[in-house]
Amino acid sequence: MKNKIIIFDTTLRDGEQSPGASMNTEEKIQIARQLDRLGVDVMEAGFAAASPGDFDAITQISKEVNNITVCSLSRAVERDIKAAADALIQAKNRRIHTFIATSPIHMEYKLKMTPDEVIKRAVNAVSYAKSLVDDVEFSCEDAGRSEISFLKEIVDATIKAGATTINLPDTVGYRLPNEMAYMISELSKIINGRAIISVHNHNDLGLATANTLSCIQAGARQVECTVNGIGERAGNAALEEIVMAIRTRKDVFAPLYTDIVHKEIYSTSRLVASIIGMEPQANKAIVGKNAFTHESGIHQDGMLKNSQTYEIIKPSDIGLEIDGMILGKHSGRHAFKDKLLSLGFNLDDKNLNSAFEKFKILADRKKEIFDEDIRAIVANEIIKIVKAYELEIVAANSCSNGHSSASITIKHKDKKISDSALGNGAIDAIFKTIDRISKINGLLKDYDVKAVSQGTDALAKVIVKVEFNNDKTVIGHGLDVDTIEASAKAYINALNSYLSVQF
Ligand code: KIV
Ligand code: ZN
Repeated sequence: MKNKIIIFDTTLRDGEQSPGASMNTEEKIQIARQLDRLGVDVMEAGFAAASPGDFDAITQISKEVNNITVCSLSRAVERDIKAAADALIQAKNRRIHTFIATSPIHMEYKLKMTPDEVIKRAVNAVSYAKSLVDDVEFSCEDAGRSEISFLKEIVDATIKAGATTINLPDTVGYRLPNEMAYMISELSKIINGRAIISVHNHNDLGLATANTLSCIQAGARQVECTVNGIGERAGNAALEEIVMAIRTRKDVFAPLYTDIVHKEIYSTSRLVASIIGMEPQANKAIVGKNAFTHESGIHQDGMLKNSQTYEIIKPSDIGLEIDGMILGKHSGRHAFKDKLLSLGFNLDDKNLNSAFEKFKILADRKKEIFDEDIRAIVANEIIKIVKAYELEIVAANSCSNGHSSASITIKHKDKKISDSALGNGAIDAIFKTIDRISKINGLLKDYDVKAVSQGTDALAKVIVKVEFNNDKTVIGHGLDVDTIEASAKAYINALNSYLSVQF
């Protein structure tokens, strides 16, 4: 095993800390199933003590996956560690991941603790975690800005207390590749094979993947990463970049390897993007829309002569096949289910039936159904919130003289309520009408619309960020072939989401 690079995926924990990327339990389960197919070794399913939602998601995922080690994050406090152990109880392989900050700035200002107190707290946390599970990971938060001599001291003490993996995060994405490699080689002297060395790099300087690869060369054997590189602030090291670098540059990394099933990379990326409603940038390495697109004539000519002239990875290596118009209005439930499985969705009967219904409605309205359309329908379907308000009819007029208007009928508590309003544009008028009907004031903070696939009849996916009643900001998603209707649905979805948080 000394040549295996353990892939520790934290899409469901650090990834979820991306602004606007929060997921409900059903969505997390879908991603967990796909991570299982992808072949990750450890899955950080959440932070059990953070919220009942996180606790529930970890519990459900623990029942769901077999081969993967399921992990919960916990601060170095008994309450968190106990919650982590309780949430993981049904996991076949479970790990508690406990952490405390070790950099001078964090210890002095955030923790207000002396270095000795921090060591004591870390040792107690690891010992307690070890009394509950065998597999304990300890992280030195902000290791990147910690003193190496202090890291050696705390790492030695926590290994003696039972830690089996030691993680050294560059929490603020500050370090350069050679500096990270130096830290790993210094720490490996003291660790000396007693624990697995792990790294966790953030991307604030765009170096997360480079730093991770450097750490691997210096002796790290576990890497923490997320699908599409999502995560706190500028994100985490991207799983697909690390894995494909190791695979593509065997001349440098062999005999090191990962157990990732490369052909599942693209599906996993699409699944995560459609569930959280956040597309990777077009020029994102490996999974961006343009990652395999050749624009210049010279490049295209070279590609036709020999694809290796300009391509170091074949799209099919990551499971990217040309998106076909595979399903149509005559496709049956069986074909639909097969398609969903190939796209990484494994729905229970209830969700499958309702997604199939949506698919049939779409097939009547849209000539060609692409994989992206299906992904969008399903992602929308599994966003389960109580539907306090439901759109019945929307009509809107856009007028260049500034007098746009909307009329809307909404179902609420079995009653149909209709109203209308003027606005600065059709969308503004729609949102104002919904506010009048619900009597809840929304302040639109962000509005994003994207065509899910190709053609002028493509499904429009609208994502809104709305602050209701000067209180909470929530995200809403809406999907329809009509952009106006998708916008109304997105706003109502945000409203429902706001109301479900209230009760
Ligand atoms: O970035 C970080 O330091 C973390 C730790 C909690 C592992 O996410
Ligand atoms: Zn992190």
